[in-house]
Amino acid sequence: MYLSRLQHALVARQHAGLFRQSHTITQYQGRHITVNDRRYLNFSANDYLGLAQDPMIQMALAEGAQRFGVGSTGSPLVTGYHDAHQRLSEQIADWLGFERVLLFSSGFAANLTMLQTLAADNDFLLLDKLSHASLIDAARQHKGRFKRFTHNDLAALARLLPELPTDDCHSLVVTEGVFSMDGDSPDLLGMSALCQARQAALLLDDAHGLGVLGEQGRGSWFAQGLAAPDIYCYMANFGKALGVGGAFLAASKTVIEYIEQFGRHYIYSTALSPALCAAVSKSIELVKRDQWRRDKLADNIGHFSRLATAAGIPCLTSTSAIQAVMLGDSDRAMAVSQRLRDEGIWLTAIRPPTVPPDSARLRVTLSASHEPQDIKNLINTLEQILLC
Ligand SMILES: Cc1ncc(COP(=O)(O)O)c(C=O)c1O
Repeated sequence: MYLSRLQHALVARQHAGLFRQSHTITQYQGRHITVNDRRYLNFSANDYLGLAQDPMIQMALAEGAQRFGVGSTGSPLVTGYHDAHQRLSEQIADWLGFERVLLFSSGFAANLTMLQTLAADNDFLLLDKLSHASLIDAARQHKGRFKRFTHNDLAALARLLPELPTDDCHSLVVTEGVFSMDGDSPDLLGMSALCQARQAALLLDDAHGLGVLGEQGRGSWFAQGLAAPDIYCYMANFGKALGVGGAFLAASKTVIEYIEQFGRHYIYSTALSPALCAAVSKSIELVKRDQWRRDKLADNIGHFSRLATAAGIPCLTSTSAIQAVMLGDSDRAMAVSQRLRDEGIWLTAIRPPTVPPDSARLRVTLSASHEPQDIKNLINTLEQILLC
């Protein structure tokens, strides 16, 4: 009886053309991946700076394992917090200018912790309509009021946001530095000013901004002229531009101390591997040092946009490494993705429920590891497929 309920849901998903499957990658080389013995030009990884296979980071991981250990052996408040965690936390705090940092095993866990811990039962949570699943899940479990405002629409936010907090109801506004499926950004300066005027807290998920935007890759908030104290709590992860895995929350000493005491995900979960912390540490050194990676990525984004516009490819407006080729219908998106695969290009179709109904798309992610010829090849192939 229990299984039949699951089977029913699985069949329904299949019939809707929304069944998802993972593909085993046998070799990852940045701009190329190998799947089932075939090599593809890769436009679907979040490895924006081409660091996931960097030899120096690989070496740091191996040396970190020998020096600090493979497993952390416990949760952070028991035996899981090592020298490697301390160093990495301090390095991030120093890099970004936040008072303190806490490490998490994933961005999903960090986002859940951020909202579940910082929003008191009576508080009002306001999330951008296109927020990541982890933020939505946390907000859905919130006992108090929760509303989603129109994507990147400051006026819509202003209409929902109370003029001032009351003693037992504070407002928390949650947004992302770069939206993962559309690749666009909110006006963070405007949002911060609104939050300050209404005494609301601003919480930022910068999974796709850290490393890529701002001086030394400090992120979208820095690129837009915000200062660390403007953000009540900042989340970013290590599995995108930094090329590793894991995540962190950064904030004032009081906010981080509060999460350390009351954040259940933080307290009751095994800490990140110390070796991984050493790898992330090396990655941050490279991110800060190698401005050429951000410059090359920016060149690639410009190149893609010019060619896509000239070819009439239907892209959402975006100046980030995430470019959405809008196809609408899920079956069509799957068919175009397959045709590209036949031509040796790996570009995953993104369908509902990851994106809103009728907005299936190909999510192109550009990287500093791409060469101009790769982008030309993608656009030419897409043009041929879409026009016929
Ligand atoms: C905007 C955003 N937030 C959070 C996450 C979750 O991060 P992680 O993959 O580290 O769990 C992702 C990753 O998909 C994301 O795109």
